[in-house]
Amino acid sequence: MCGIVCYNGKKSAVEVILNGLKSLEYRGYDSSGISVVTDKIETLKRKGKLKNLIDEIDKIDNNANIGIGHIRWATHGEPNEINAHPQVSQDGKFSVVHNGIIENYRELKSELEDEGYNFKSTTDTEVVVALISHYYTDDLLEAVKKAIARLKGAYALGIISEYEKDKLIAVRNESPLILAKCDDGIILASDIPSVLKYTKDVVYLENGDIVEIDKDSYTIYDKNFEKVDRDIKKINMTLEQASKGGFEHFMLKEIYEQPEVVKKTLEVNLKENKIDFSDNSIDQDKLKSIDKVYIVACGTAFHAGEVGKVAIEKLAKIPVITDIASEFRYNDPFIDENTLVILISQSGETADTLAALRESKKKKATVLAVTNVVGSSIAREADKVIYTLAGPEIAVASTKAYISQLVTVIMLALDFAKKLDKIDDETYSNYIAELKTIPGKISEVLKSESTVKEIAKAIKDDSSMFFIGRGLDFLSVKEGALKLKEISYIHTEAFPAGELKHGSIALIEKNTPALSVITQSKLAEKTISNVQELVTRGAKIFTITVEGNENMADFSEKIVFVPKTLEMLYPILSVIPEQLLGYYTSLEKGLDVDKPRNLAKSVTVE
Ligand code: M6R
Repeated sequence: MCGIVCYNGKKSAVEVILNGLKSLEYRGYDSSGISVVTDKIETLKRKGKLKNLIDEIDKIDNNANIGIGHIRWATHGEPNEINAHPQVSQDGKFSVVHNGIIENYRELKSELEDEGYNFKSTTDTEVVVALISHYYTDDLLEAVKKAIARLKGAYALGIISEYEKDKLIAVRNESPLILAKCDDGIILASDIPSVLKYTKDVVYLENGDIVEIDKDSYTIYDKNFEKVDRDIKKINMTLEQASKGGFEHFMLKEIYEQPEVVKKTLEVNLKENKIDFSDNSIDQDKLKSIDKVYIVACGTAFHAGEVGKVAIEKLAKIPVITDIASEFRYNDPFIDENTLVILISQSGETADTLAALRESKKKKATVLAVTNVVGSSIAREADKVIYTLAGPEIAVASTKAYISQLVTVIMLALDFAKKLDKIDDETYSNYIAELKTIPGKISEVLKSESTVKEIAKAIKDDSSMFFIGRGLDFLSVKEGALKLKEISYIHTEAFPAGELKHGSIALIEKNTPALSVITQSKLAEKTISNVQELVTRGAKIFTITVEGNENMADFSEKIVFVPKTLEMLYPILSVIPEQLLGYYTSLEKGLDVDKPRNLAKSVTVE
């Protein structure tokens, strides 16, 4: 997620904006920038840390009273100075900062190019400033209205122009934006922490709102361009609470962001109900020459890859081998020019995954990266890159990145299946329709929080816990077991439910905790039998299953139900209570949830 801070008032805009951006630094970003209005628009942008911008801030006028600032987490285009925000129009008269994604930017870009506009960046945002410049005659507000009428997607915008030197305009559509009223000016910001140093009085702008700010007054227009009054609310949060969006920890905040992450992944990669990764995916001809796929990753990303294997084999009918990145290159993998290697990595910097990428390229495979960080090493070196759209993930325990990886690999499987003509139209459409219901269904599952808290209380003093499931449920419990162990330090082990009786069941004794996930209809009966084997030996059972399945009531101490969906999509729902279980158990034990011992967010050593 990028961050916006804009100011119009009596103070130094540079000072207010830089303080606001500093308060967002904790989230990670790849570049930053600021524009101010003096007798012209002055802009400074730098790649990397905010310090790089601050070190050279004297290059723009520190006395200017109106300006727009941004820290960027790239989604379109490499993280570099040209792609950093603000984006300035080709004539230098307009400057824009933007959070969100303009879905139809390609069409708009080619339309403006046909009219002779010269784009410099590869961002979607430059289209916004180009449109405003295109529509401007003598009224900035009118030009903005005309420009946003052409936009599809999510956007929060801050806009200034050399033609109207006292004016700051902002627009909110889906992406968050607040207006903060200070004694000596107005701040517009994407996030509360950016304004707390100056005021606690904010207006939460609504979708479709346009704000016109002159030096000491502002006017809000709603989506019908009618003037509206919006209430000023008092913020009762500390800076630390505000950084976490009001949640106690980043992990919980990120768990709750998951419906939005799925929504965004679908919005960006679906065009007219068809999956469209544009040329970031593998084209049909190349796909036809592929005789096997390797999916290689570490940790949570590997667990997403295992679901990807099932999806690609089932839907696209291509054989898939999964391998842990640290093992892959020592396994002498069967790779040649007919192999597709898919690497999954949130950070895009994991050393083992990067080494697997290089090994695959050496052996002439086609390499497709699925990563969350634009311009990361893995993204740069892969032949093709599909970006997950989770936004920055701060908690060491991965949650929203995993969900975005799951949705992306399932969409990739559908994309391959369609291109290879392995899926009929009805099945394809069913998948798309059902994927669209997933954000709402995740929100439903999140309501199980209170039951999960009770499970956390019941297991917090245990030293070890079993996780069991079959098929896709086994893949779900592998992720659930990792989540619990990495932040609660309880030893966990995930088993295919039928495998326990081949040795490990010897460990079950009275009150040994076990979590079973049962969502796959053809395997449910079998897993239930395995659960009974554990019950007989005294285990205390907790279950995650599909609503309507009452079969587990007699065996389970607590049950969490997930809404019905397609079998392939259950891992997206069943992992949510598992993530919550990790979180609440860690909390019960008084541990450092976001920064567990011995772990780093990005593992850049082999
Ligand atoms: O950045 P990556 O996705 O490549 O990281 C891979 C693993 O290190 C990561 O998923 C790790 O397992 C998480 N901490 C699990 O929550």
